[in-house]
Amino acid sequence: MSDETEHPSEGSPRPWRNFYGRRSGKTMRASQKTYLNEDLDRLRPRGITHEENPTREPLDLAAFFGNDNPVWLEVGFGGGEHLVHMAARYRDVNIIGAEPFINGVAMLLGKIRQAGVTNLAVHPGDARDLMDVLPEGSVARAFLNYPDPWPKARHHRRRFVTPEHLLPLHRVLAPNAMFRVATDIPDYMRQTLEEVPAAGFELIAHSGTPWEDWISTRYEQKALREGRVPDYATFRRA
Ligand SMILES: C[S@@+](CC[C@H](N)C(=O)[O-])C[C@H]1O[C@@H](n2cnc3c(N)ncnc32)[C@H](O)[C@@H]1O
Repeated sequence: MSDETEHPSEGSPRPWRNFYGRRSGKTMRASQKTYLNEDLDRLRPRGITHEENPTREPLDLAAFFGNDNPVWLEVGFGGGEHLVHMAARYRDVNIIGAEPFINGVAMLLGKIRQAGVTNLAVHPGDARDLMDVLPEGSVARAFLNYPDPWPKARHHRRRFVTPEHLLPLHRVLAPNAMFRVATDIPDYMRQTLEEVPAAGFELIAHSGTPWEDWISTRYEQKALREGRVPDYATFRRA
């Protein structure tokens, strides 16, 4: 079966999406359970899941955030360090992050409490469901930091840098919006440099030097400890 087909038994336009990553991990600390119970509800826009929005009506982001500030998107924020760092640094921007790994979401919520940032929204799920309902051209910048590498050749089509993900991303990004990709896997960057331009983006920069406003993420720290080399690319949505 392809990674995205109509669900055979439902007869509805809901796509059947395989998700191969982890949704939960080790037991959570009591404090993290508290964050999930007390904070997630407020930070989670309604109408992203198929259950809440079967007809896939577009989200009203200005209503959710209570302002018209630009919206940025982070896909797979992991423990949330980059998401919170950017929200704290750019207070006049709203950032929405998608992450299906609930332990990561709990870590993010702890960091949000610590930093006291309010210009954030969280989708505790698949970025594809979020992109479905983001209005066309509504996102001013997107980040993909250390995406799952899927090293085996037969799994490369699971990577985020494939048309299944890049075409919806292109749709939700505004013209000239920036899209940043960081990875420590040379073959992932190879595929990125092939597939992202093919999806309608122009390569602006590619180097081993991070962006001026970068914060090293958990996965980058792990890569560095294990002797791998970070690589950064910036694209402009044409
Ligand atoms: C290797 S981790 C990197 C986490 C973080 N960005 C960092 O740099 O530390 C990749 C993350 O992408 C998330 N992910 C995988 N597929 C995703 C999807 N379809 N939508 C959103 N996040 C996804 C995984 O759950 C995982 O947390």
